[in-house]
Amino acid sequence: MPKETLTITDNRTGKSYEVPITDGTIRATDLRQIKVDDQDFGLMTYDPGFMNTCSCRSAITYIDGDKGVLRYRGYPVDQLAENATYLEVAYLLINGELPTQSELDEFTHNITHHTFVHENVRTFIDGFRYDAHPMGMLVATVGALSTFYPEAKHVLDHEIRRTQMIRLIAKMPTLAAWSYRHSMGMPFVYPNNELSYTENFLYMMKRIAEPKFEVHPEIVRALDVLFILHADHEQNCSTNVMRGVGSSRADPYVAVAAAAAALYGPLHGGANEAVLRMLREIGSVNNVPAFIKEVKSGVGGRLMGFGHRVYKNYDPRARVIKRLADQVFDIVGKKSPLLSVALELERIALSDDYFVSRKLYPNVDFYSGLIYEALRIPVDMFPVLFAIPRTSGWLAQWEELLLDKEQKIARPRQIYTGYGERKFIPMSERKRSSVTAEAVKSSPRETD
Ligand code: CMC
Repeated sequence: MPKETLTITDNRTGKSYEVPITDGTIRATDLRQIKVDDQDFGLMTYDPGFMNTCSCRSAITYIDGDKGVLRYRGYPVDQLAENATYLEVAYLLINGELPTQSELDEFTHNITHHTFVHENVRTFIDGFRYDAHPMGMLVATVGALSTFYPEAKHVLDHEIRRTQMIRLIAKMPTLAAWSYRHSMGMPFVYPNNELSYTENFLYMMKRIAEPKFEVHPEIVRALDVLFILHADHEQNCSTNVMRGVGSSRADPYVAVAAAAAALYGPLHGGANEAVLRMLREIGSVNNVPAFIKEVKSGVGGRLMGFGHRVYKNYDPRARVIKRLADQVFDIVGKKSPLLSVALELERIALSDDYFVSRKLYPNVDFYSGLIYEALRIPVDMFPVLFAIPRTSGWLAQWEELLLDKEQKIARPRQIYTGYGERKFIPMSERKRSSVTAEAVKSSPRETD
């Protein structure tokens, strides 16, 4: 039987080392024994962007990027999208099993009864400028919740930890909806305990003065499915941040704020916003070939909503979303004119060697923006709509980290490329460096 080990010969010294292989991986710290001499720190690995480094063991989400497979706790995401509700999925992610009816009832009751926020949160949100981006408000406000629940810092206490997890899942829609209302200059709407998680979010965001606020049940369901599809995605950028901040034992409110900040970026959760802006800029099907040409030449930026670090096949979430988009367009009664631009982009990209050879396929963000647009949700809100459901995934991953005996504070190494030791230069002897002069020349003038 072949041995589950790796033999490494260090050509600098001629010495050989045998390190164990477990689950298809070697431990980076096993390389430290490989030294040129006793003074040597030992061999390290260099992996910017974690291209080939596992940072944890996890039993939550499984992705096979080559086959386009995504499963939460073993269940294929399309089956969950077909049969479950978002809260069922949140329960599954956090607890590892699908809930029984009574477990789900209790979980739903707990979430529903934690949707209100302290009145000072309302004044906090009121303090933002009238044109503040809702994602910026969400990041700041969820972080501010840390000051309302000081006991949250006891992250190793099961009861306390679980209470904050419920609070976070419950309050994210309230904060998200209020961020939107503030940016629209509209009064805040308080949560309604009679509504489902997703309907309540739409109610807080959209209600004006209707005596009875009603949304088509299939629209509520469509948003719930989008929430399911966005709930977790193993060690993505924001989850890595959640774990990184959590590894210092910071409380979950500031950790979720940090994770949401990572999600905000256009290469991650901000991509859905970027996709819609891109589709609007392209404007019509006729402009698609020229746009694709620009992307390929490198001058036109990237084709947003395409490509993924892990998926080298069609993102399974994009498949479900594309179907969902058709259903939503049927209900709202009109197709977005941008849909034809998106379809044409997809058609060309999937047959163009540039995209095919790089295995660039549509990802979750390519079609989700069109659904949000059809629901008349402004583009600024798109990353916020991603952050709401991803909260359950972040929290499941955060708790898994805290309970994992192998985990330590996240602290990577570096290859130092700066100066060796230098003697301090007194102010009178310093010369203006060319770097500073260049920076001053090229920096934009502040006008505001
Ligand atoms: N358009 C054009 N070229 C692309 C794209 C794209 N969207 N994505 C990757 N490439 C090219 C890239 O230029 C590179 O080409 P070359 O080998 O000639 O240098 C090659 O494909 C590999 O790209 P990479 O940047 O090394 O790949 P990565 O794994 O580091 O990046 C990604 C993954 C998602 C950041 C990237 O594909 C991208 O920027 N996509 C657009 C933004 C986007 O849609 N993000 C949402 C991701 S899914 C949801 C989420 O995570 O939140």
